Amino acid sequence: MALPARKNSARRRATAAHPPKHAEAAASTPAPSRRSTPVIDFKAVEKRYDVGAIGLDQASFSVQRGEFVFLVGSTGSGKSTIMRLLIKELEPTGGSIAVAGRDLEEITRRRVPYYRRNIGVVFQDFKLLPNRTVYDNVAYALQVTGGSRKDIRAKVPDILRLTGLSTKLHNYPDQLSGGEQQRVAIARAFVNHPPLLLADEPTGNLDPETSIGIMQLLYRINKTGTTVLVATHDHQMVNKMRRRVIELSRGRIVRDEATGLYARDESTREFAARLRNDPPQTPDVVGTPDAIRAAAARERRIDGDGAVGGERRPVQAATTTTPADA
Ligand SMILES: Nc1ncnc2c1ncn2[C@@H]1O[C@H](COP(=O)(O)OP(=O)(O)OP(=O)(O)O)[C@@H](O)[C@H]1O
Ligand SMILES: [Mg+2]
Repeated sequence: MALPARKNSARRRATAAHPPKHAEAAASTPAPSRRSTPVIDFKAVEKRYDVGAIGLDQASFSVQRGEFVFLVGSTGSGKSTIMRLLIKELEPTGGSIAVAGRDLEEITRRRVPYYRRNIGVVFQDFKLLPNRTVYDNVAYALQVTGGSRKDIRAKVPDILRLTGLSTKLHNYPDQLSGGEQQRVAIARAFVNHPPLLLADEPTGNLDPETSIGIMQLLYRINKTGTTVLVATHDHQMVNKMRRRVIELSRGRIVRDEATGLYARDESTREFAARLRNDPPQTPDVVGTPDAIRAAAARERRIDGDGAVGGERRPVQAATTTTPADA
């Protein structure tokens, strides 16, 4: 991977002491390595904006190389904040973020453009250059990172083929459908084959059928070994793809499942509490001795292998007690 190599041996030891515990994603995805340095490592990250809004609140999670991860959560829950912290457009107000083992705090402003070459970014609104053709939009991404003409001639047609745009080379963005424009944006983000691809609501402006094509493309990119992080409100897509799901609520991580749904299944008790607007309860702890024993057994399962029903990951204390946002 082209991302900066890990330097800090103390951190390496810390990572080795806490190997990822989740089940692997579906077999067709390159198996995320369990022992290597995580591509993304958030440790108790806090982001408070100047106006006092909470972007992230003690968020801890890590993503292994080759994983495909959905970030879900209601509007304002902190998904874009994570993306913007990762590209160093924002600085955290607490905690630490490492990408491929490199603490982002160590990267000076001057080095940020070099760091960003390792990360492809796709946005909801495509952000294409309106006065350039498809070919030039993609070529431009290589030019600004110092790609030679030879490089451009070799790589651009390749990536346009991969993204299904070979017949649209000479079109301008306003001569493309929304789905095609997003393909161009993905081609541009991936032309350098970055080891990490971030997509912030990539299907937010697209109809369901077109969205499937875009997700397939991201999936194909993931299969080449690139780690993919997708923030989305697209229930259907998340439910169909059954990949790892990290859910945020008011800046906190409230769920992390290896093969999750958009919204996690609620127990009847949680559903009732949500209807009554009660504060969340600890499931089954109040009740009969049997219920207490069952809860204790469940705790042991969480502590023991990090998986409840083979899928749920252990996250911060809020995991089992905070209902998913309605
Ligand atoms: N530049 C900013 N200044 C002040 N507050 C901000 C800023 N950007 C985000 N916030 C606040 O931080 C919180 C998290 O915002 P964020 O954009 O990360 O949410 P999100 O999950 O991406 O939401 P959406 O699904 O609507 O895109 C919100 O309360 C938001 O109002
Ligand atoms: Mg957002």
